[in-house]
Amino acid sequence: MTRAAILGTGSCLPRRVLTNAELEKMVETTDEWITVRTGIRERRIAGAGEETSKLAAEAARKALAMAGVAAAEIGLIVVGTMTCEKAMPSCACLVQKEIGAVNAFAMDINAACSGFLFGMDVAEKYIKADPTLKVLVIGAETLSTRTNWEDRTTCVLFGDGAGAVVMAAGDGERGMLGSRLFADGSLWHLLHMDAAPSLNPDLVAADYQGPFIRMAGQEVFKYAVRAMQDGVAKVLAQEGVEPEAVRLVIPHQANIRILNSLTERLGIAPEKIYINVHKYGNTSAASMPIALDEANREGRLRPGDPVLFCAFGGGFTWGAAIVRW
Ligand code: COA
Repeated sequence: MTRAAILGTGSCLPRRVLTNAELEKMVETTDEWITVRTGIRERRIAGAGEETSKLAAEAARKALAMAGVAAAEIGLIVVGTMTCEKAMPSCACLVQKEIGAVNAFAMDINAACSGFLFGMDVAEKYIKADPTLKVLVIGAETLSTRTNWEDRTTCVLFGDGAGAVVMAAGDGERGMLGSRLFADGSLWHLLHMDAAPSLNPDLVAADYQGPFIRMAGQEVFKYAVRAMQDGVAKVLAQEGVEPEAVRLVIPHQANIRILNSLTERLGIAPEKIYINVHKYGNTSAASMPIALDEANREGRLRPGDPVLFCAFGGGFTWGAAIVRW
């Protein structure tokens, strides 16, 4: 059976570090409040030349180099993002041009923070349909461009960055075993971001406050934990993998308390959950591929290891996947 394997990983973070101490000077908050409630100590903020597509392209170059795959060999580019510097063309098309992937078709996926997971799933389906296909899956965001820097309830949470993987048909048992993806659009209002201002006066929403991220934090928290737990349980049961057999969990890095609650409920040892939210905050679709790349480069993954991915984001969207490394 053809399985879609991950051949290489890469990531790219903006240079500028924004610490909690700096945020203390911007809004009424404290390092202690942010650290205790979120686990975040600092995040990266994009500067000139670090637009979403540029970060994405650099992450892609690193993943291609690790995989030993040339850009021209890529047949499909999928980017999970909701903060590309252009609404059209897609971020994926900008990446294609940037890296010279002249033989690829390209598209974005907006599944908010679940965008990379959904992108991996799309890649897997295409690779199963055409085992010669090599796919770049990227998660890239510059949430700093859509953050209300006067709103302390959200501005402390997010950061910028990009991560990428190269996927292709694996040899033997290696590759994605299965996935389960979900959405519930009826809860969109709990976590959302308006688009740029409408130029059609008839379509300007009465409550339009600007293209910022808005969130009902406590409700999102509870739903995120329950939803990811459910997604993980379903994918493990579907693939017949016991929780103890999981070697490493690469979760969406939203918040340390969400990850701690999830860990307790999953019955997976805490040291198997990869965490880097303290360094980068919530980078939405970029968080999982950045975490995967760091875990990979630290030597945390061995061939044959079952690696579990789980994500949750605006929509709501959520899900889980299991990959044999
Ligand atoms: N600094 C200091 N105080 C803050 C603050 C900040 N940055 N943000 C909010 N507060 C205040 C609130 O105004 C409130 O004050 P009040 O009691 O006087 O009204 C108090 O802290 C508690 O606020 P609350 O919203 O109840 O805090 P919380 O414990 O729920 O923590 C979050 C807030 C956002 C950290 C938490 O709800 C959370 O992590 N939610 C999930 C967010 C997330 O991960 N979203 C993305 C999912 S992909």
